[in-house]
Amino acid sequence: MKTKIIVANWKLNGSIEMVSNYLNYLKNNLLNEFKNNIIIISPPAIYLERMYEDLRHLNIFLAAQNVDINLKGAFTGEISILMLKDIGIRYIIIGHSERRLFHNEKNDYIAKKFDLIKNHNTIPILCIGETEVEKKNGQTKKVIEEQLNSIFRISGPSAFRNTVIAYEPIWAIGTGIASDPEYVQTIHKFIKCYIQKHDIMSKNIIIQYGGSVNSSNAKDFVNQPDIDGLLIGSASLNAKNFLKIIDTSLNID
Ligand code: 13P
Repeated sequence: MKTKIIVANWKLNGSIEMVSNYLNYLKNNLLNEFKNNIIIISPPAIYLERMYEDLRHLNIFLAAQNVDINLKGAFTGEISILMLKDIGIRYIIIGHSERRLFHNEKNDYIAKKFDLIKNHNTIPILCIGETEVEKKNGQTKKVIEEQLNSIFRISGPSAFRNTVIAYEPIWAIGTGIASDPEYVQTIHKFIKCYIQKHDIMSKNIIIQYGGSVNSSNAKDFVNQPDIDGLLIGSASLNAKNFLKIIDTSLNID
C-alpha cells in the first residue's frame, strides 16, 4: 500500500476550547494505527505548542501554516523556521492560495520559503493550483509549470525530493464543489511527469489533493493511483469528521 498523507488545515480557526475538545475526541476515539500513512494537523501557530505533546502520543504530526524567509531580527509579526524547529515542527504549508491572494505572495517568494525549509531539514507542503478563469482558458498546466519552475530555479532539479505537493484548484477551495477525482488524477500525473523530466531519478513524489474534501468524497480521491493524500480545510475543523475522513481514506475499519 502506498503511503498517504492526510492533513487538516484549520486556517484561521480555533480556540483553546476547540483545541482541548478536539484533542480529547482524538484521544478517546482514535483506535486504529495509521500503518505507514502520515496524519498531520495544522492549527494556527499560536496553538502548535499546546497540541504537540498530545499529538505526539497519538502519532500525529503538526504543520505550521506559514514561515518567514528571515531567520531572526527586525521582522515584526513573523515566525522563523528556527522557532518552528525549536518546538518540534517538521512540516510547513507554503504557497496556499489564500496567502497568494490575501498576502500577495508570488512564486519566487514562495520558492525562497521552500528552499529555506528544505535547507533546515524540514518538509514543505507546497500548494499549487489554478484559478477558475485559468482553467476555463486552458491554462492549468502552464500555471502549474510556472509554479514548479520557480522552485526548480532556486532549489535545483532535485528540489522535490522529500517534500509534499498539494494540488488545490482554487475554484474548489471552500466552495463545497470538489473537483472530479479523474480530473485531479490527470493533473497529478502531469505534475509527476513534469518533475521527473527535471529529476529522472525522482521517485515517491507525494501529491495531495485539496478542495472541498469531506467524508463522503475522500475515498474517491485517494483511490486514484496518483493522489497520495488530502489537504482538508473546513471538514477538518470537526474532530469526528476528520477521523471519519482518515478512516475511510486509509481503509482502516
Ligand atoms: P476546504 O476543504 O475548506 O475547501 O479547504 C481546502 C484547503 O484550502 C485546504 O488547504
